[in-house]
Amino acid sequence: MKTALVVGSGGREHALAWALARSPQIQHVYVAPGNAGTRWDDNPSATGLQPRAASTNVPIAVEDFTALIAYTRQQALDFVVVGPEAPLAAGIVDAFQAAGLRIFGPTRDAARLESSKAFAKGFMREHHIPCAESATFDDYAAALQFLADRETAHGPASPLVVKADGLAAGKGVMVCNTIEEARTALHRTMVDRSFGAAGHRVVIEERLYGRELSILAFTDGQTIVPMPPARDHKPVYDDDQGPNTGGMGAYTHPPDVDGALLEMIERTVLRPAIDGMAARGTPYRGVLYAGLILTPDGPKVLEFNCRFGDPEIEAILPLLEADMAEVLLACIEGRLGQVSIPFRPGVGATVVLASPGYPGPYPGGIPITGLETLATSDDIIVFHAGTTQREGDGHLVTAGGRVLAVSAVGESLPATLRRVYEGVAPIHFEGMHYRRDIGGLL
Ligand code: AMP
Ligand code: GLY
Repeated sequence: MKTALVVGSGGREHALAWALARSPQIQHVYVAPGNAGTRWDDNPSATGLQPRAASTNVPIAVEDFTALIAYTRQQALDFVVVGPEAPLAAGIVDAFQAAGLRIFGPTRDAARLESSKAFAKGFMREHHIPCAESATFDDYAAALQFLADRETAHGPASPLVVKADGLAAGKGVMVCNTIEEARTALHRTMVDRSFGAAGHRVVIEERLYGRELSILAFTDGQTIVPMPPARDHKPVYDDDQGPNTGGMGAYTHPPDVDGALLEMIERTVLRPAIDGMAARGTPYRGVLYAGLILTPDGPKVLEFNCRFGDPEIEAILPLLEADMAEVLLACIEGRLGQVSIPFRPGVGATVVLASPGYPGPYPGGIPITGLETLATSDDIIVFHAGTTQREGDGHLVTAGGRVLAVSAVGESLPATLRRVYEGVAPIHFEGMHYRRDIGGLL
């Protein structure tokens, strides 16, 4: 029997820990630092579809590689899986590998596909991966001149997207309707430095139109195994109104996505990306997440992410029939080609319950009620994102912007969504808000 460590503390990490804990090879999952849901031994109301392995939260921050390595060694844990992008971009995989430990995820050089948008654009151009036309600038004056030239050529209503080069917690992308808006976005990024060092360089690109699609694939650097296609809903309010969030809900198998489209994405996006990274001596292992937009000219890449999508994975993993530990170990050991990764037929979906004020500032410590009624469900799973147990009485309280992700699986999208919203119904915390139109329901 094996033990695993999950690094991170959100809904994605609860889903990863939960999927690992269902593996027949796993006896104990550790989560650093985790949340109230990832310690299901002490908090049995946490989750439906109880996993069989034990779980423990470890109070170590995701950026403290030295302490994480020491803990992994001391407990003789078999392998590690990393949730968030920041430690991947900072080289957590390199550090564990240097210590001779097994870890799932890309190295720092491979994670540049997410951590530098300028690198990703150059890479996509070199490997003919379809994406928006773009230009990259280190110099504010040159970027302003580009906008002026664009205004002369296309007029003041020319739509563009301004992107800070580095990691900006999902906030560094500004979709602009006019040149004036693009100037403001540029000023915020390069002069005000609203996104810190991430804004020392910008990518300015044409605005594309179409529905978005998230394709996540397991890879060992050679073999690619895509997971079921998913769609996430980023704006905070129904009907895509309001500011963007990390994601307010997601569902698998969008009805406008067929096998021919998935085959095309694998051939024109995933395959050249994995082969291109191997060819430059920075093989990509882990999960490659392509954020795509389905334009009239075909699918184009908006961004690559070097990790599991959140909340996509809370919709996808409940469908996984494969042994998660075996899948991750096969990626780490370069033998993904010998492993089959079945997903059950049907659809997965998840709805995020958010704190009052999110995605702006929000309070913490609000008591959460109603989860007990779901603990015995066999098709609804509540993944915790921003939760903790209150000091003293141990009551479950909010501790983040996205608080819970309520997931369900079912035969069809409408049936699954019905179950998800039935799962949401008994849950309450003061000021809780969520979208009522995930999956296209209104
Ligand atoms: P990114 O972090 O690059 O995925 O961008 C975040 C969001 O901004 C995407 O999910 C899209 O909704 C939007 N976006 C990014 N690039 C473009 C583009 N070229 N055209 C239209 N929308 C975009
Ligand atoms: N759901 C968007 C992301 O994980 O980046």
